[in-house]
Amino acid sequence: METAYLQDKLAGYFTWFHQHPEPGNGEVETTARIREILHDAGIEVLDGRSGGLLKTGLAARIQGKTDTPVVALRCDIDGLPITEASGLPYASRKAGFMHACGHDFHTASLLGAALLLNEGKETLEGTVKLLFQPAEEGGGGAQQVLDSHVLDDVREIYGLHVAANHASGLIGISPGGTHAGVGGFKISITGKGSHGAAPHHARDPIVAAAQLINTAQVIISRNTNPFDQGVLSFTHLEAGNTWNVIPEKALLEGTFRAFTDEKLAWIARRLQECCRAAAEAMGVTVDFSWRMYTMATNNHTALSEFAAETARALGLTVIPAEPVMGGEDFALYQKKIPGVFWTIGINSPEGAHHPGFIADMSQLSSAACFSAALARNSLARLSGKP
Ligand code: NI
Repeated sequence: METAYLQDKLAGYFTWFHQHPEPGNGEVETTARIREILHDAGIEVLDGRSGGLLKTGLAARIQGKTDTPVVALRCDIDGLPITEASGLPYASRKAGFMHACGHDFHTASLLGAALLLNEGKETLEGTVKLLFQPAEEGGGGAQQVLDSHVLDDVREIYGLHVAANHASGLIGISPGGTHAGVGGFKISITGKGSHGAAPHHARDPIVAAAQLINTAQVIISRNTNPFDQGVLSFTHLEAGNTWNVIPEKALLEGTFRAFTDEKLAWIARRLQECCRAAAEAMGVTVDFSWRMYTMATNNHTALSEFAAETARALGLTVIPAEPVMGGEDFALYQKKIPGVFWTIGINSPEGAHHPGFIADMSQLSSAACFSAALARNSLARLSGKP
């Protein structure tokens, strides 16, 4: 397939996806469009027990010379609840929703990889599964995919994300963690309300919340080795509803992030200790709960080198992927399957999750060619025919 022809086709797919963003677990039209494109290309969509258990999103399969080995290419397909302000002629047609994280780019480029692999499938040394994952933005999409068992026979997995701050076309690959593990917490403080003029009759949950927020700052700034990455942010604080009453309750929420499971558990433990201390000092009851949203990504060292070599062989420029404290549920796959999560520069001055985010669509064919090459070359290596 001519590159210019492929690029044109993918730009068409991309603009359609960009115009039709849908929330995580609600990607109905998106899934239908992906299915239609794959169907028109004669690519098998996995239904029923072999991967069709997903409500939105889907998996497809391209079988080469043999059933096995199997490798997977993954993209995510969900949009975000953001009102677009990019000024693009192909801006979102759905009020309040936008593809502000490049998942439209990921989807279009993976469709491109599918077309390329399908075109040359008689020379493919195994089978490629193409995974169009729903609900990456905190909606549990990767877990749904794992529960569907579609990846059970997969030996290696590759996924991509656009890098807003990298020049167009630069490929980012690093071994180890590139996206942090993400925890979220909720703290509810119960004290005793009273008149604002009579604080001695109250057990003030607002002062307790303020004290707790300040104390918790030491977890990162004083307790953490400066060379070790971690972040803790309070993002939601709610208490009271008027100016002259001390309320009974305060609610706090927030997030903490780090690159190892141990560090995440340690931050949660320290936070809990801060809650206990505030409760005791202020005479209030503090309920603390937390959960993990995703662990950190963990790129396989040898496969990262393989991916970088594959990119260079295509004439692409490879730079180290910049670690970010944002989460990515591709990490769940990497707990079970060795894989690499790579980035491609799309040069958006406004970063991801911003209403003015714009992905440079001229890089679609490049991302598609690289994805296809990763699948093709890993199958050749796994089957001993490099
Ligand atoms: Ni994203």
